[in-house]
Amino acid sequence: MIVSIFLLWLCIFFIIFQFKLRRPKNFPPGPLSLPVLGNLLNLDLKNPIMDFEKLKESYGNVYSLFIGSRPAVVINGLKAMKEAIMIKATDFAGRPQNMFINDITQRKGVILADYGSFWRDHRRFALMTLRNFGLGKTSMEERIHEEIQFTVSKLEENIGKTLSPQVMFHNASSNIICKVLFNTRYDYEDGMITEIVQCFVELLKIANGPWAMMYDAFPWIRSLPLPFSKAFRNMETFRNISKRLVNEHKMSRVPGEPRDFVDSYLDEVEKSSNDFSEQQLLGMTFDLYVAGTDTTSNTMLAGFLYLLAYPHIQDKCQREIDQILEGKDRVSFDDRHKMPYMQAVIHEVQRFANIVPLSVFHCTTKDTELSGYSIPKGTLIIQNMQSVLREEGQWKSPHEFNPENFLNEQGEFVKPEAFMPFSAGPRVCLGEGLARMELFIIMVTLLRKFKFTWPEDAGEPDLTPIFGATLTPKPYRMKVQLRSEQSC
Ligand code: HEM
Repeated sequence: MIVSIFLLWLCIFFIIFQFKLRRPKNFPPGPLSLPVLGNLLNLDLKNPIMDFEKLKESYGNVYSLFIGSRPAVVINGLKAMKEAIMIKATDFAGRPQNMFINDITQRKGVILADYGSFWRDHRRFALMTLRNFGLGKTSMEERIHEEIQFTVSKLEENIGKTLSPQVMFHNASSNIICKVLFNTRYDYEDGMITEIVQCFVELLKIANGPWAMMYDAFPWIRSLPLPFSKAFRNMETFRNISKRLVNEHKMSRVPGEPRDFVDSYLDEVEKSSNDFSEQQLLGMTFDLYVAGTDTTSNTMLAGFLYLLAYPHIQDKCQREIDQILEGKDRVSFDDRHKMPYMQAVIHEVQRFANIVPLSVFHCTTKDTELSGYSIPKGTLIIQNMQSVLREEGQWKSPHEFNPENFLNEQGEFVKPEAFMPFSAGPRVCLGEGLARMELFIIMVTLLRKFKFTWPEDAGEPDLTPIFGATLTPKPYRMKVQLRSEQSC
């Protein structure tokens, strides 16, 4: 019996050895990979971050994995991250194609466009148009302040009560980007915005979840009615809404006098550049909407959760806000230079919350090298953001929420190099400016007017997030009180 079991194991071992996926010459090291499955069994597909961290301990800052039969390189730590996305920037600036998320978006838009002239032209157009319809400092601040009034009203209705801030923050950031794209906003109770936000939340959870990984690893399951099909239905819902809004714009627009992003894009389509088309416009609106909503709103959700868990930090923010804004009716983005503590808190929220944990997957555009290893063109590149945002040696307190990480001995705000929640290099987040402005103006305005506390009957705050393309805090409620001495 023992001999048979031994022989059976020997056979299995032999088969694995014969058919195991082989790494190219001088490819980064990594765990043994199984035929067909690759390293899927090495990862908790519901949340692989801890597994990425453990593999780093065994194989170093640059290691490889197989997602099914597709080789991938995982980059960890500031040094390797900088070498890849900043120093050898263009070598690592591609996007993988033929994955779940490419099929969902029908290969339209800028986020997943591969490195090349289409991506460059659309990125440049998006940045320029965002600047014209929002990021230009004053007009964007105005839009954010307009939207905050609705958030403030919502909170005022809940004075003395507890409320779940999730939908409120999602609606606020969704409306800010909606205004830039479509020159419209939706009431917080509007059925359509609830549907859109719900669509995205589900879609992003599926996109970084186990079913998306299975879709990428096993192409033969793609046409089966498995749970990933829901994401295709959600995408169709958004596409239909967006199509309707674009058609309305086509009827009412005056060429050459754009009111928003959609009008500007339609002007560009008429200049008949082949790359600019109505189909691409739907892709662009999806990209900017999705990238601009879930990221910012989850950062605010995480931020308020930490301020509930650490009330002394909330008090300290409020003292600084009261002092600096004394006599002013409202905060402006420029005030941040006089508020080192508030700046430190917002940056610490972004560092600790690690909202986009695996960035957006990159891909090598040519044969290249990283940390002495050879990486062929077309290799999938995964950035483990936690390995930088919580890297030992880069932070005073890498593993705890502590605004001191961004303050020097004199209490001045300093930004360590390892702060890269927006990533870096040519693919750095295109909405960084908008996101930073939203986070500062919204958090300061709300903290100036309200005091937020953790409900007494809610147990201890749980800071562990739920994994997805974005990390989301677990649903929570907060008690809202008016701060007596301040007005908004
Ligand atoms: C706190 C908020 C945000 C965070 C943490 C964040 C983070 C990121 C990260 C990590 C990437 C991937 C960069 C890379 O591939 O190396 C990214 C890309 C991108 N983000 Fe953001 N983002 C935020 C807000 C926004 C907003 C408000 C917008 C839209 C206006 C936006 C639009 C984009 C776009 C279009 C890309 C793709 C850029 C490209 O491929 O060239 N993001 N973001």
